[in-house]
Amino acid sequence: MNRTNFGSKLGVLAATAGSAVGLGNIWRFPYEVGENGGAAFILVYFTCIFLIGFPIMLSEFALGRLGQQNVMGTFRAMGHKRWNWIGYAGVLCCFLIMGFYAVVMGWTLEYVYQAVVYGFEGKTAEDLSQAFTDFSSQTGRPIYWSAVCIVATCAVILQGVTKGIERVSKMLMPLLFVLLIILGVRSLTLEGGMEGLRFLFTPDFSKIDPDVLLSAMGQAFFSLSLGMGCMITYGSYMSKKNNLGLTAFQVTSIDTLVALLSAIAVFPAVFAMGMSPAQGPQLVFVTLPSIFTQMPGGYVWAIAFFVLLAIAALTSTISLVEVVTAFFSEEFKMKRRTAAIMCSAIILGMAVLASLSMGIWANVKILGHTFFDLFDTISAKYLMPIGGLGISIFSGWVLDQKRLELEVTNQGTLKARFFKGYVFVLKYLIPLAIVSIFLNELGLFSI
Ligand code: PHE
Repeated sequence: MNRTNFGSKLGVLAATAGSAVGLGNIWRFPYEVGENGGAAFILVYFTCIFLIGFPIMLSEFALGRLGQQNVMGTFRAMGHKRWNWIGYAGVLCCFLIMGFYAVVMGWTLEYVYQAVVYGFEGKTAEDLSQAFTDFSSQTGRPIYWSAVCIVATCAVILQGVTKGIERVSKMLMPLLFVLLIILGVRSLTLEGGMEGLRFLFTPDFSKIDPDVLLSAMGQAFFSLSLGMGCMITYGSYMSKKNNLGLTAFQVTSIDTLVALLSAIAVFPAVFAMGMSPAQGPQLVFVTLPSIFTQMPGGYVWAIAFFVLLAIAALTSTISLVEVVTAFFSEEFKMKRRTAAIMCSAIILGMAVLASLSMGIWANVKILGHTFFDLFDTISAKYLMPIGGLGISIFSGWVLDQKRLELEVTNQGTLKARFFKGYVFVLKYLIPLAIVSIFLNELGLFSI
């Protein structure tokens, strides 16, 4: 494929925000918040987003646009082959993420189906929780739905209709946004809902332990699609005129807002209905349907919500599969078609493992984790922050500063008052933060 540029400014934003906003915001963020004690986690999360996430996103865009290559080729093209490891780690990370992401996206399709066929009316929170467990622990059905998701993603990439999807999602994502606000209002006005707000916004600092720090950092990387080459690959498709800093800022803000709205929809309902905030991956799939049961027109809202969530997930899976497709097709001179199909087959294999680990293989553990957990933990908590560490060290210390500055300022045509501060953050702050969070987790150092 020619390295085509994204068509317009809005196209760039739609694609990058489409990658960032997904299940990470609406499914993973609330359950991480719930498991890690609420407000304190959110505080650390915000700090990670703006101090670590935003600068790394800008760097990824700049590196991609400089190198004009896939995640690995970029480092070679810039004359720094030794940093290729970031590319390899990124490719591995993509497969791991897709392994469980496709499963969760499959769940959203099942919920579209359930919303249409049965509706959730009349169901109590216990019924919904039981229904989720019954469904997700089955063998065939969840795998079928993940396969549908993987095939759909592959088809979009092969047909080169990514642009079409972006056009559609540009119109639909604001709807998802509005729907989240409506859900939030309904959730807040449930009796006892305010307790949920307290959980979200009154931090208890004693809850911040090494695991909370690592989880919040991991969530920031995951939600912004950072540290594994996704934004490098997308950066390589951006036009030389695009204002990278502005795009990074917009994407970061939109992503954070969506995560926050999702938490505001979920937690008041959790408390109002006496559920546990720490339910893990099922949280959203139990809580949101419970809210629909309490809304006039809940049947329609539920369908709309899960359809939009599936589309949000699709724009993320497209970006994930694009990374590995670009990598294999450019590095191994494969046809894009062959590369995309091969990657999808590998992903399907991994999704089967992840899906079965919610049911018949729940007892198969590696390093104490089920496959689902393992894929999630290795990618979000370790590979992405390590990739991010590499990217910040590379762009802060290794890459010629003039080149970075010219790229970030569009050859000097944009003001770069923030440049010095940005480089300082890349050089010192981010490496220090990431390394101390890791050492802290290992118990070698305490913050
Ligand atoms: N950021 C996406 C989400 O929040 C997930 C993702 C991670 C997408 C890494 C691409 C790369 O759902």
